[in-house]
This record gives sequence, C-alpha cells and structure tokens, in this order.
Amino acid sequence: RIAGPSSLVIFGVTGDLSRKKLMPAIYDLANRGLLPAGFSLIGFARREWEHQDFGQQVHDAVAEHARTPFRESVWNRLAEGIRFVQGSFDDDAAFDQLAETVKKLSEERGTGGNTAFYLSIPPWAFPVVTKQLARCGLAESSEDVWRRVVVEKPFGHDLQSARELNAIVNDVFPEESVFRIDHYLGKETVQNILALRFANQLFEPIWNSNYVDHVQITMAEDIGLGGRAGYYEGIGAARDVIQNHLLQLLALTAMEEPVSFDPQALRAEKVKVLGATKAVGPFDETTARGQYTGGWQGGKKVPGLHQEQGFPKDSTTETYAAVTLEVRNRRWAGVPFYLRTGKRLGRRVTEVAVVFKRAPHLPFDSTSTEELGENALVIRVQPDEGVTMRFGSKVPGTTMEVRDVTMDFGYGHAFTESSPEAYERLILDVLLGEPSLFPGNEEVELSWQILDPVLEHWAKLGAPEPYEPGSWGPPSAEAMMARTGRTWRRP
Ligand code: BG6
Repeated sequence: RIAGPSSLVIFGVTGDLSRKKLMPAIYDLANRGLLPAGFSLIGFARREWEHQDFGQQVHDAVAEHARTPFRESVWNRLAEGIRFVQGSFDDDAAFDQLAETVKKLSEERGTGGNTAFYLSIPPWAFPVVTKQLARCGLAESSEDVWRRVVVEKPFGHDLQSARELNAIVNDVFPEESVFRIDHYLGKETVQNILALRFANQLFEPIWNSNYVDHVQITMAEDIGLGGRAGYYEGIGAARDVIQNHLLQLLALTAMEEPVSFDPQALRAEKVKVLGATKAVGPFDETTARGQYTGGWQGGKKVPGLHQEQGFPKDSTTETYAAVTLEVRNRRWAGVPFYLRTGKRLGRRVTEVAVVFKRAPHLPFDSTSTEELGENALVIRVQPDEGVTMRFGSKVPGTTMEVRDVTMDFGYGHAFTESSPEAYERLILDVLLGEPSLFPGNEEVELSWQILDPVLEHWAKLGAPEPYEPGSWGPPSAEAMMARTGRTWRRP
C-alpha cells in the first residue's frame, strides 16, 4: 500500500539513528514508490543549517546507508520536499515556524497537513517537545487531518518512569496516535514467528509444556559500545534490549493465537502473555550480568568498557545480561524461558530456540545415542535468516548409531523477494496509520514489571562480572544454566 498525502518531522536529525536508519529508510520507501507524490521531510535541530545543508545531510546518509540503488530522479523528487527548522526545544518561535512550515507544505505540496512527529530524542526532552506541539496546534487530529507521534526507546528506565512517560505523551496525543518503535517487530523473521506458528498444523500441537523443555532467546552482538556512552551508560543490556526486543520475541513465541491480525486482537494476546510472565529467582542463581574487558577479538585488539570513550572507569553498567522467566499459564507452566544478550560476544546472532524434551524411551543401547541432543526448532532472526529443525538420524553404516542432523529453511534460498529494512516497514506503517507492529503502552509497562525485580536486585550488587571479548559472556551465565542441567546453545 502507498501512503496517503503526508509529511514527517524528525526531532534529533543530527543523531546516529536518523543518519543510519531513518533518512535511508525514507529514500528506500520513495525508491519503491511507496511515498505519496508531495511527501515532505522536515528536520528540526539546533544546528545552524539552511534547507540545503539539511538536504545535503540526507543525501549523504542515503548515499552511505540506503538499501536500494541511488537514482537521481527519485532523489530529486524527494529533495524538493525537504525542509529544515532551526531551534532548540524551548524556543517558541522555532515551533511557530514549524507550524507555519507544516501549513505551507499542505498548500504547496498537498500534504493535507497530515504529519508524523518522530521523537528521536532522549526521554527528558519528551515533555517539552510534546507541550510545544500542543501549544502550536500541531498535536490535534481532526476528521480531515491526522497527527501522529513516533516514540523511540528507552520508554523509561523502570515501571514507574515508563508510566510517567506514557502519561506525558498521552496528555498531548491520544493513544491511537502514539506509535512506539520496537524495530525488531519490523523484521521479516520476527513477523514470521506468527506465520510459522499459526499458518501451520505441524508445530502448534507440540508448542506447550508437554513437549517443550525450555526456550532460549539469544541476541548476541560482536560490536562494542564505542561512541554510545551518552545513551548506554547507566542503562545497560537488560534495559537496552531485554525490556523491549527480547520480551517482544518471547510474547510472539508464547502467546495464544489471536482472533485475527487486527491490532487490537494481536495486542490483547501479547498483553495476556506478558501479564503471565514473571522473572524467576533467586536472582543470584537464575540471572547473570557481565561487562566486557579489553582483549583480542577476531585478531584485533579491542578496549574494555572502561576504556571506551565516555564511560567512567568505575562504570557498573552491564554489557551482558541473562534472565530466567516463566510464563505462568496452562500452556507453559514449568517451562523456563532463558533470555540473554551481550555486546562483544563471539558473533552477531539473534535466534529463538525452542528445545524439546527427550523422547520418553530410546530403544537403542546408550552408546548408539551418545551424540544425540534434544530436538530443537530454531528461528534464526538474523543473520542468515531462516528456520532450522534439529533431530536425530541414523548414521549410515552397519551399526544403529543415531546422531543429530539439521533440516534448514533459509530465506535466501526459498524466496527471490527482498525484504524491506525494519525501519522502512515501520515508517510506512506510521504514515498508513497501521499500528499492529507497535507495542501499546500496556505491553511496555508489563515488560518493565517483569524486569524491575531483577534490576532492583542487580542495583544492590557492585560491578558486573568481567568477560573476555569474543567469548559467550561471564562464567556466571554458564553456571546459571548448569544449575538446571542445561547448557546455552552456541549458535
Ligand atoms: C538497538 C539497541 O535497539 O538494537 C542497540 O539499542 C543494538 O544496542 C541494536 O545494537 C541492534 O539492532 P539490530 O537490528 O542490528 O539487531
């Protein structure tokens, strides 16, 4: 679907997200013919830029990061709708000028005044920006004109602050106009969890505690935190990605089938399953928390967190986090969900692994099954997107030896269609007013409710446990699994 007449205002245009993701995504949408003819992009920042300077920034960001080829004609059309408003967030005159620009674009380019405001700014700036938008009449939708706000995480740092933040945003924009971005929901493979589960008969009958031993959700990254101290210090791995991306993956994996894929029905199921999810203690034994040290990774010398620019020498921010959760309902009672994430780990990989119980009886002698693990269904979110099934198979030969093999589905092999980048998909959905892929405030608050007890426990501890770059996290992460007789996968 092509978006109707509209414009997008970005606050925080000088930031990394805007340059690496938002601007390229807008160009890619234009290139795919999914933006309306008069689409306009307005940047708002303190920088002393003219329209052309901002246009140049967008141009450079597109040239460097866009997924689709650069086409002069597409760029020229997009560039005609690029505007810049200079000012700080408390500058009334700048916001008046923004309102004027929105009005002018409506007349000149037929945007109809329909505007999405993308807050790619720290949460402390939300109250002042939303109040300014309200003051100059930019937050009000009417029958003919829509106004939407797009909010980036962090949505607070605990339940209490998330509630306050939601109240601030909802004070100005009604809930149906608020689009909270969790870019994992824009990923093809994440949406495929629903297709895999609910378009097939094969998996659902065994998708429960009768057959599933446990679930492991991993988001590992090999990059460090150089250049991100401003955002990451004091936030840490659990708040950065478990509270949002990984709990959304859990929700999609564990939820019941929605009545339909309309946004309310989908959200209702996610809210139900998150409401049933609890962190399991005692947290000294069921969680792990680490911080990477300096060392060697992939043949290169890399700094520890303490040496990264902007992080204090005594930073207690965790760069690795693992938690044990339980979904307390009939389907999942007793099945642990292990969630882990970390920076500077062995490799970049995100996956959901559903690990099944062993067969109740093996009519083989034990030496024949020594190399037999548990059956597993692994949804590979990235890279090498696809699904793998692991099961035992007879080793060719005269003896009855059984060994693990895998059956693989890879997107690259199965489809010729390319998938849009997550931000592309999500920005288009904002312009279309399609909220299915955006977590509602209840989901955000429930996710904090799940994580808060663990965070409170960790706050009482000192520095996180060190781990080597290129490893799979601190020893306590291995110990936490070993205690249950299980092991982490090495994807
Ligand atoms: C962001 C986190 O939400 O996701 C980053 O703030 C992380 O710390 C990033 O690196 C990873 O995104 P992706 O799409 O590369 O997995």
